[in-house]
Amino acid sequence: MCGIVGYIGKKQAAPVLIEGLYKLEYRGYDSVGIAVSDGEELRIVKRIGRVKEIECARRERGTVGIGHTRWATNGGVSVENAHPHSYKNIVLVHNGIIENAEKLKYDLLAKGEKFYSETDSEVIAHLIADAYSGDLLGAVMRACSQLTGSYALAVFSTDEPRMLVCARMHSPLIVGKAKEGLVVASDIPAVAEKDARLYTLNDGEFAKLEGDELLFFSAAGRRIGKDTIEFDLNEGCVEWNGRHFMRKEIDEIPKVLQASRLEIENDSCFSDFYKVLCQTEYIQIVACGTAYHSGLCLKSAMERICRVPTEVCIASEYRYSDPIVAKGTLLIAISQSGETADTIAAVRLAKKRGAYVAAVVNVRYSSLTRLADVVLYTQAGREVAVAATKSFNAQLIALYSIAETVASVKGVKAPSLTGLARKAAETIAISETVRSWTPYFVGAKSAYFIGRGADMCAALEGSLKLKEISYLPSEGYAAGELKHGTLALIEPYTPVVAIITRRDIAQKTMNAVREAYSRGAVIFLVTCFKEFCDEKEVTASVLIPKCPPDYSPILSVIPLQLLAYYTSVARGNDPDKPRNLAKSVTVE
Ligand code: AGP
Repeated sequence: MCGIVGYIGKKQAAPVLIEGLYKLEYRGYDSVGIAVSDGEELRIVKRIGRVKEIECARRERGTVGIGHTRWATNGGVSVENAHPHSYKNIVLVHNGIIENAEKLKYDLLAKGEKFYSETDSEVIAHLIADAYSGDLLGAVMRACSQLTGSYALAVFSTDEPRMLVCARMHSPLIVGKAKEGLVVASDIPAVAEKDARLYTLNDGEFAKLEGDELLFFSAAGRRIGKDTIEFDLNEGCVEWNGRHFMRKEIDEIPKVLQASRLEIENDSCFSDFYKVLCQTEYIQIVACGTAYHSGLCLKSAMERICRVPTEVCIASEYRYSDPIVAKGTLLIAISQSGETADTIAAVRLAKKRGAYVAAVVNVRYSSLTRLADVVLYTQAGREVAVAATKSFNAQLIALYSIAETVASVKGVKAPSLTGLARKAAETIAISETVRSWTPYFVGAKSAYFIGRGADMCAALEGSLKLKEISYLPSEGYAAGELKHGTLALIEPYTPVVAIITRRDIAQKTMNAVREAYSRGAVIFLVTCFKEFCDEKEVTASVLIPKCPPDYSPILSVIPLQLLAYYTSVARGNDPDKPRNLAKSVTVE
């Protein structure tokens, strides 16, 4: 949710900011802007759209500057609402939501101050300007003490143009020393370079970047020290000349599954994690979106194989549900980004109530990794497309490995996880046929995905993928539930995708298929059983390799990911950057 970047040093700031913003575009891309100062003059360039819209600002002169790529929260998408925001001598960029902004703005308006945007961020600029009397750090600290909500801020004053001040509360911020200057950004790749020394700011902390000096302060205003963080320079290397990252990332699934198995076998963290797991009698899972669907898949496997009661909660519901955290509860938080605000808040609450927290996270040094008692990293590598694909498969193999280990401790025989990478490669090759299904989806009013058990989890994920990148209304449903209401929505030519990977309940799902077919639905099948492909109700099918049914979403989701991708492209959308969405959801 919004990417911020800042630079102060020897180089011209504008190109550094623009390059950084390209790497942060996954956080939001509805408008973009930079502000640079050469010590005399302040130049602000803002545009609606993506970072390329401010390429023209590369030549703006100045060695200090801040930049922002926006995902609108407060205020619509407009140049006025784009960042940076300025008031009097203060210029800032903000990521987060200020919850008491209306009240603060009301007071400022009463004092006669004028506002030019609808944003909560502009309110912060006013508060800092009002608190400023020659000390930018002090003014930012005083302003922040009045804020409720979340923020990552990078601020400079035209009165002190050789200084940047940063603050963080519930929104990520990295600060560091690069070869030729000091840098700040929402995420490591935006500022990572060889020999850079990077630090994470914690909630309530401030940083002052001046000349070549970088100082950190606690919420109480005391100087504090910090350890540098390690980073992998290659993680930011996501250059690719192909058409869409999403398609490339689906192709990477076999490699990711391979790497995940190796990591699980070699990583000592996994064995610590397993020790805790083996003693646990009850598991709660919190997550959002695709990660929530991974949680549902684990619940299905954990309960059926290990008989350990497992509850899966949508994090945004959990945090306000006054949850019961029984003694000895293991809470598993699943997140690709490790920055999802709802998941982080759920974890904080569960910890307060005594849960032991394990985080299953893809992005190193993300906020969730610092909160959890133990971290289990997934091996998806950097995922650029907003729609999660390979990270879902990476989460599943990590989560199924947990179930496998718990089973072995309990003396239960768990199905084997070997061979999934090869089968995923075969599935990708076979599933290319779903491209031929797209004419049925492109013009459809809505689409439905049905399955039972683990197949229902895959159905939910297939439906989410389709709606988020093709903008086609879609529902994932328990096959047996269709007849209890949703069947009323089936009209002639409504596409229905059925997933069938469990022999003992296959006929039950076929009942739902027949019910939909009788009402005119066009049926598409993802299955590992050849005989169902030949049923008269089935218009087209993908025959995926057989694998243990409890783990089947790891394969059955692949044709669904491809279907969403091809439908999105056929509808003329950009599958990598769907409208209204962002890769990392750091606000409520
Ligand atoms: C998935 O395609 C979505 N972009 C979204 O649902 C995502 O999974 C969700 O926002 C959670 O993100 P996280 O895994 O980074 O916590």
